[in-house]
Amino acid sequence: MKREHWGSRLGFILAAAGSAVGLGNIWKFPYMAGVNGGGAFLLIYLALVFTIGLSVMLAEMVIGRMAEKNAIGAFKKLKGGAWPLVGLCGVAAAFMILSFYSVVAGWTIAYMVKSVSGAISSSDPAVLGAAFGGFISGSISPLFYHAIFMALTVFVVLSGIGSGIERASKILMPALFVLLLVLIVRAVTLPGADKGLAFLLQPDFSKVTWHTVSDALSQAFFSLSLGMGAMITYGSYLSKKENISGAAGWVTLLDTAVAVLAGLLVLPAVFAFGFDPAAGPGLTFITLPAVFAQMPFGAFFAFLFFLLLAIAALTSSVSILEVVVAYFVDDRGVNRKMASIVVGVIIFFLGIPSSLSMGMMADTKFFGMTFFDLMDFLSSKLLLPIGGLFISLFVGWVVWGAAKADIAAHNGTVPFWINGWGIVVKFIAPLAIAFILIQGLMG
Ligand code: PFF
Repeated sequence: MKREHWGSRLGFILAAAGSAVGLGNIWKFPYMAGVNGGGAFLLIYLALVFTIGLSVMLAEMVIGRMAEKNAIGAFKKLKGGAWPLVGLCGVAAAFMILSFYSVVAGWTIAYMVKSVSGAISSSDPAVLGAAFGGFISGSISPLFYHAIFMALTVFVVLSGIGSGIERASKILMPALFVLLLVLIVRAVTLPGADKGLAFLLQPDFSKVTWHTVSDALSQAFFSLSLGMGAMITYGSYLSKKENISGAAGWVTLLDTAVAVLAGLLVLPAVFAFGFDPAAGPGLTFITLPAVFAQMPFGAFFAFLFFLLLAIAALTSSVSILEVVVAYFVDDRGVNRKMASIVVGVIIFFLGIPSSLSMGMMADTKFFGMTFFDLMDFLSSKLLLPIGGLFISLFVGWVVWGAAKADIAAHNGTVPFWINGWGIVVKFIAPLAIAFILIQGLMG
């Protein structure tokens, strides 16, 4: 069977950017920056994204396009030996990430409903905090929304690449960008917002530890969808003639822009309403409703925002599910529909303890963490950076000649910086990732 391809270069860039831009940018980035002291975290994050991140992004896309296979099959085809294990870890990470990701994405759908029903139309932090805590610590309701979100994800993935994933991304990504800009204007003009801007833009390096750096690294991998083969998988649907170095640059840039914009939206509002920036995962869900309550047509904007957040999450979650489904379709001969549904159901069940971690299972600890935090830790802190490390080594040391030739052949010439990229994938990225990982785990 002929492999399906993206309809256009723009379609690919938007789908890859759709994978990258998601809850990681709008929900996770602002609270990670909040917990880690603001500006210094932002600077370290940017430095890591444009060195290691960009380089691993390009490495994944090259692997995918050269092999035209899923994350496991690509390593098998290009080299074999123990290398497919890198893809296997990626598939394991995909199960873990999607299980808790879908829970949080479910919250966004619930908040769409709540913005219309008036349940969150307050500007009182105490009321909003209690509403959020009350909702996520429940059992049935969050699981119901988790199920809806998983069902939507399965639906897009079983519809295929062009008519499912690409079509959705093309409409939704631009809409998200415009809405973010509108909301930022409101957030930064709130009285007291300047303290939030200062928090994000004035680095205080006295707060930086290796822990901060390793948080920034795992955030970079998570946000850019790297280390588990999502970009290998998407790259495998890319036609041979596309310029992937440009695409990798665009995706990285767009993802970073949205994270910074989300920081500019959430953190000024946090300070304007006197919340604690280190409040953690509830930050976006508690502060933004307070901003909406201060706006004309607030309920409408709240609905729109949570709709777009749900959509951003959906274009990401489909890329996570696609990593697993592509493996079963390519290498195991399972049909796409069947693979999407079965894997989706398994991930739904794996998400149940994550959801209950906010309530019933809050005191059930694994290595001192709730199940939700454990999934996040194992995947974002360990598997993604380790995957990125081996992906860099694979391209740098095993297929460098072929990878360079692949890029050169389709760009006409080798762009001048590609030789420099060789040094980054061979030495700098693997060493830096290993060093940060070890420091972060010991710290
Ligand atoms: N990049 C997505 C986000 O920032 O929300 C999450 C994600 C997608 C992580 C795909 C990993 C992945 F492979």
